Amino acid sequence: MFTTTLSKPGMTGFPQDLFAAIQELKRDLNAVILAHYYQDPDIQDVADYIGDSLGLSRQAAKTDADVIVFAGVHFMAETAKILNPGKLVLLPDLAAGCSLADSCPPDQFAAFKAAHPGHLVISYINCTAEIKALSDIICTSSNAVRIVQQVPPEQPIIFAPDRNLGKYVIEQTGRDMVLWQGSCIVHETFSEKKMVQLKMEHPEAEAIAHPECEPAVLRHASYIGSTTALLNYVQQSQSSAFIVATEPGILHQMQKAAPGKHFIPAPPLNNCACNECPHMRLNTLEKLYLCMKNRAPEITLPEATRVEALRPIQRMLEMSV
Ligand code: 13P
Ligand code: SF4
Repeated sequence: MFTTTLSKPGMTGFPQDLFAAIQELKRDLNAVILAHYYQDPDIQDVADYIGDSLGLSRQAAKTDADVIVFAGVHFMAETAKILNPGKLVLLPDLAAGCSLADSCPPDQFAAFKAAHPGHLVISYINCTAEIKALSDIICTSSNAVRIVQQVPPEQPIIFAPDRNLGKYVIEQTGRDMVLWQGSCIVHETFSEKKMVQLKMEHPEAEAIAHPECEPAVLRHASYIGSTTALLNYVQQSQSSAFIVATEPGILHQMQKAAPGKHFIPAPPLNNCACNECPHMRLNTLEKLYLCMKNRAPEITLPEATRVEALRPIQRMLEMSV
């Protein structure tokens, strides 16, 4: 089941078999390991649950483990803590942030909200607890369209922080929403020109994309969805090859789920590795082991913020059953 079982040669102070050591710590701590699809394959292979942001929130909401080890980025682990104030929530590297969350500072967003009185605030889960506390409903890439569709048509909406997901939701629902102009550095790196080139080189391949990509890239995709939706789609589709416009960490599960099919990661603008999320990639199997061994770093947040941030998350969970 595991792709790698040994710690890297030359790494001192780590057990020879990191996977076995992590499993042992998991039993000792009564911990659950939740991982996002953008994590390194080794981390995905050691996780109890791998999912998209909505799936991970649902797992965090229902777990009976004492400790949640979150292999993802800060806002995801913070969401788990908001849902589980009494549990220890660990993040292998506290510096694993998110450019999208960073693109929406709470003071500026509070002023933006005040400038649009009477608006319902729907925020993408990729934001800080402070932004969640300023929001009415949280959504993820898998339920954003469904949530906006449930809002009465006469109700004006602010959608934050991702302008690309916001534009996609406007297109799908026909709703006119006020958009916060945030974006993801990873998904904005995909180039329309390179996408078209790749489609010409692989005419048999179907292009699929995450809605955080820019509209010019989404235009070339025959299917658009969250990471879980993309993973389900490649298994159901008749196509044998796919050009995948999202973080390439997802390819690990795609290859496992559909081993006979061919997956081509969409190319970034330059010949860089900037289609890999630098925040997600800060987590390593070694740091995962260390955070469980040390019971740190842990996620903490002020109780007043947590209570305010919980309300729109619960609303999302109720609206997306
Ligand atoms: P999903 O997990 O909803 O697919 O979103 C991807 C993402 O960018 C997470 O940061
Ligand atoms: Fe944030 Fe983009 Fe990384 Fe997702 S891929 S965690 S949105 S920077």
